[in-house]
Amino acid sequence: METLKEIVNPLLKWYDGHARVLPWREEPTPYRVWVSEIMLQQTRVEAVKPYFERFLRELPSIRDLANAPEARLMKLWEGLGYYNRVRNMQKAAKELLKEHGGEMPSDYDRIRELPGIGSYTAGAIASIAFGIPRPAVDGNVLRVLSRVQKSYEDIMKQSVRRKMEEQIQAVIPKERAGDFNQSLIELGAIVCVPNGEPKCGECPLKELCKAHGDNVELELPKKTPPKKRRIERRTVLVLLSDNKAALKKRPPKGLLAGLYELPNLDGQYDSEKVLEYVKGLGLSPIRIQPLPEAKHIFSHIEWHMAGFAVKIEEPDQEPEGFFFVEKAQMEETYSIPAAFSAYTEYFKHCF
Ligand code: ADE
Ligand code: SF4
Repeated sequence: METLKEIVNPLLKWYDGHARVLPWREEPTPYRVWVSEIMLQQTRVEAVKPYFERFLRELPSIRDLANAPEARLMKLWEGLGYYNRVRNMQKAAKELLKEHGGEMPSDYDRIRELPGIGSYTAGAIASIAFGIPRPAVDGNVLRVLSRVQKSYEDIMKQSVRRKMEEQIQAVIPKERAGDFNQSLIELGAIVCVPNGEPKCGECPLKELCKAHGDNVELELPKKTPPKKRRIERRTVLVLLSDNKAALKKRPPKGLLAGLYELPNLDGQYDSEKVLEYVKGLGLSPIRIQPLPEAKHIFSHIEWHMAGFAVKIEEPDQEPEGFFFVEKAQMEETYSIPAAFSAYTEYFKHCF
């Protein structure tokens, strides 16, 4: 395949008949496209939908995003993970409020400079919201292009991504830039799928596709395997008095920076050690109950957690760094990262 020219018309025609109806496609304003693309970076379409609707309802403009209190922002993002995504969005919104009257500029280079916006997201906003002919190459697109061209180059390499961006740039139709980018993303999401066999029988590119022609679609794309995640053992505590549970705030830098968490300890503790720790805080335990083990996977770390529920006497005073929070307040105002969700449910049973 000399260029990708031949894929343009079949893809657009297919997209017209097969694109899923998705909330952010109905009214592709720059803000809506931006929010959706950031949410979709690490989360599946089906899971994103309700978050997207609620986020837009509660923060309907860039100005609202810029002015949202941190806790409200965290609450709206609770369960999506990778909280820096929304923190960066707010930083960018503040810049836009200061410098562009709260509007996204229709300028690819300026969009690309905003916090949290890489070449993919900038290309998606520029093309889908403004019709600017710029590529938007994400994992879906890398997979489709590797297969169509039967390229064995490592798609984890920046240089390979850049080459594919150049290939798209050379053929992107000026009149339908956003639809073309989305057709590639969509094909990768529902036809040329990442897990299991691609549905080549339904693919508008099946006659052009070199990998399919040579029956090697399952060998592609090639990627260097990601680095192994570090495993951390932790012991999570559900510390409960009559009507309150203990939370802590995480340090301002690093994993889950600045978020609330259940008290937890580095390493695997048994009940005796846990009781010792709790007493060391100046609290008076009444009883202790082991909870099931749980796992949470971050990008570079896995937490393998043991848990204990500890009933304590009403504390006279909160130990340093601890907050005792009432249940009603907990659900309304504190967002606790999904890493702890196996244990937060014990608040309910024990109150
Ligand atoms: N994944 C990433 N961007 C997307 C989009 N615009 N539509 C559907 N899935 C996506
Ligand atoms: Fe992917 Fe198959 Fe279509 Fe090739 S023919 S692009 S492998 S779905």
